[in-house]
Amino acid sequence: MPYQRIADLIREKPIGSTVEVRGWLRTRRDAKGFSFLEVNDGSCLANLQVVADAGLPSYQSKVLRLGTGASLRVAGELAPSPAKGQEVELQAAEIEVYGWADPDTYPLQKKRHSFEFLRTIAHLRPRTNALGAVARVRSRLSFAVHQFFQERGFFQVHTPIITMSDCEGAGEMFTVTALDLANLPRQEGGNLFEQDFFGRPARLTVSGQLEAEVYALALGRVYTFGPTFRAERSHTSRHLAEFWMIEPEMAFCDLQEDIDVAEELLKHLVIVARDQCAEEIGLFARFIDKELPARLDSVLAHDFERITYTEAVKLLEQAERPFEFPVAWGLDLQSEHERYLCEEIFRKPVVVTGYPKAIKPFYMRVNEDGETVANMDILFPHLGEVVGGSQREDRYGTLAARLEELGLNRADYEWYLDLRRFGSVPHAGFGVGFERLIQFVSGMPNIREVIPFPRTPGTAAF
Ligand code: 4AD
Ligand code: MG
Repeated sequence: MPYQRIADLIREKPIGSTVEVRGWLRTRRDAKGFSFLEVNDGSCLANLQVVADAGLPSYQSKVLRLGTGASLRVAGELAPSPAKGQEVELQAAEIEVYGWADPDTYPLQKKRHSFEFLRTIAHLRPRTNALGAVARVRSRLSFAVHQFFQERGFFQVHTPIITMSDCEGAGEMFTVTALDLANLPRQEGGNLFEQDFFGRPARLTVSGQLEAEVYALALGRVYTFGPTFRAERSHTSRHLAEFWMIEPEMAFCDLQEDIDVAEELLKHLVIVARDQCAEEIGLFARFIDKELPARLDSVLAHDFERITYTEAVKLLEQAERPFEFPVAWGLDLQSEHERYLCEEIFRKPVVVTGYPKAIKPFYMRVNEDGETVANMDILFPHLGEVVGGSQREDRYGTLAARLEELGLNRADYEWYLDLRRFGSVPHAGFGVGFERLIQFVSGMPNIREVIPFPRTPGTAAF
């Protein structure tokens, strides 16, 4: 390409060479005889300072008309910068404007905007420092996920987005239809689904797990990393209707090994964020959350605490503070309980295993006690649950009985039972909520800031 990335120029500092950058103007400051242009091309957080001399042929007609948001090309010599704040600057010899941005109407001016406001301009917000930084961290960690698994012999499986099964059994699924809802065909006793595209109900997947199990029982170790969808009406800072999930699935693996892999993955991703996104983490630490670097280090410093659900309930019952939601054996843990365990009792991530089977999905392996399952949730300080996983029920009879007990339609799960009928093996897996992880490493209070185009009940930008 005939132009350079600002990230590379700032890193390599090829002083004295002629370079060309292309990007968007962040600010312009005029001095006597020249102007400073702060140009950002998205390749890194830092801007490149451009010095535009009043002697430039385009100075009056272009430079002095440039406003924040305009896109431009600048060619010239890279020089050491005499002033504080940057090591190099670009002495412009040539400036071309691609697109103007009217300062009266361009919504992103110099001042700091609230994240709530920025959500209303999802098409422009990646041009801010914070949202641009999140996008770079997301990309880097997404790549790191693939690296982690590929280096350990896992194969990526592209599990379907449109599915006929409800993995979590929670019934919180979006229906996929090709019917015109405003003009439905007449039912005449028949079932509307029969007239639809697939001839039966089809939904957006809530998890790629069941299909990943198919491939784990053929390829050994696999992972899927894709979008998942949940029609839960949760208006919290940790829930999205569309989010990305990392789901490894491993044959010949029990719950303890499953937890080991999850802990190793989470630590690896935190290290990548800390070491390879240092500029971004620095920004988050300055403007979003001062405690962030210490919190990242605290995840790396210790083994995650591993306790059972029964122990967790005891600790919560003994807590000398009130909770909004009740605590009792048999009830699910709420985010306030999860955070109490991590932040006040153990001061590090906590893995809780062996929840009551009555509050967990059909696929989790039932423990010897007949009451609990071989599952695990990994809870992080500040956030609560980031991972949910389990050893899977690999015994045909027990699984068939579970499906029946839960009133699930067995015919829908014959293929899943087949995996237990033919060459069944102990196997396990888990799901990491990718946005929850990005929230953790960025310190962003709201999950809507860590996905480019958040979808939540009642809102979807475009
Ligand atoms: O605990 P969950 O529901 O587990 C599963 O879906 C399993 N099938 C995964 C597996 O074993 N392969 O979801 C896994 C993780 C949660 O721990 C959480 O981090 C995230 O996905 N998650 C959400 N993230 C954002 N918005 C939501 N609405 C989420 N629901 C779950
Ligand atoms: Mg869960």
